[in-house]
Amino acid sequence: MLSYSILAKYYDRLMGDFDYDGYVSFVKKRLNGEGVDLACGSGEITVRLAKAGCSMTGIDISVEMLNVAREKARQSGLDIKWICQDMSEVELNHKVDFMVSVCDGFNYVPTDKAAKLLARIHDNIKIGGTLVFDVSSEYKLKNVLGDNLFCEDYDDITYIWQNKLKRNCVDMEIDFFERTTGDMYRRVEETHRQYIHTQDFIESILKENWDYEIYDGEKFSKPSAKSKRLLFVCRSK
Ligand SMILES: C[S@@+](CC[C@H](N)C(=O)[O-])C[C@H]1O[C@@H](n2cnc3c(N)ncnc32)[C@H](O)[C@@H]1O
Repeated sequence: MLSYSILAKYYDRLMGDFDYDGYVSFVKKRLNGEGVDLACGSGEITVRLAKAGCSMTGIDISVEMLNVAREKARQSGLDIKWICQDMSEVELNHKVDFMVSVCDGFNYVPTDKAAKLLARIHDNIKIGGTLVFDVSSEYKLKNVLGDNLFCEDYDDITYIWQNKLKRNCVDMEIDFFERTTGDMYRRVEETHRQYIHTQDFIESILKENWDYEIYDGEKFSKPSAKSKRLLFVCRSK
C-alpha cells in the first residue's frame, strides 16, 4: 500500500501533539505574500498560513492527504489551490514569495534527488524569497526512530509501526488494524522510507544559492547534536 493512503485518515489524530501553532508563529514573521506548502499533507500549515493572510498553494504526492486538506480548507471557507505532484518536479508558472515544507517532507526525498529539489525550489522562488523546511535529524532517525517499534491503540484503530535502520534511510512498516464491525478488524499495511539527510549534506547543497540559518525545529533555538528536528530558514540569492 502506498505511503499515506491509509495513514491519511488518522494522520491529524496521530499528530495531536505536534506544535503547528508554535511552528507558524515562529515562521510567519518571515513569510508574506504568495506561498507554496510542499509536502503539505493534511494542510495544517497551509490552512494556518492562509488564515494569516498568505495566498497559498499546497502540493503533496498523496491524493488521500490532499483530500483531507481540501476538505479542511472548504470547511474554513479558504481559497487554497491543491496540487497532487512529486515536489521534486515542482514547476509553477510564476515565481512565488516563499515555500515551506514542514514535518519531514524532505526526508521522503532520496539523497540523489535532494539537490534537484532545492534547485527546482530556487527556480520557483523570487530572488530574496524565503524557503523554510525541516528534516528529522540524523540523530533522530538513527537513535530514536531507527530499529524501533511504536504502537498505539484506539477504539477504532490500532497500529504497529516497525522501523529498520539502513545505511542512509529508515524503512518503516505500519500495520493498521481498523475496526470494521463489532470485534472484527481489517489489517492493512503501509510502507514508508525516510532518508537521512545530514546537516553537512544539506548545507553543502544550500550554500551556493541560499543564505540560511539553522534552528532546532522543536525548540526554535540553536540546534544541538541531539536536536531531533533541524529547521532551515533560507533566503534565495
Ligand atoms: C509527515 S507528512 C507531513 C505533512 C505536513 N507537511 C504536516 O506538517 O503535517 C509528510 C508528507 O510528505 C508527502 N510526500 C512524501 N514524498 C513526497 C514527494 N516526493 N512530493 C510531495 N509530497 C511528498 C506525504 O504524502 C506526506 O503528506
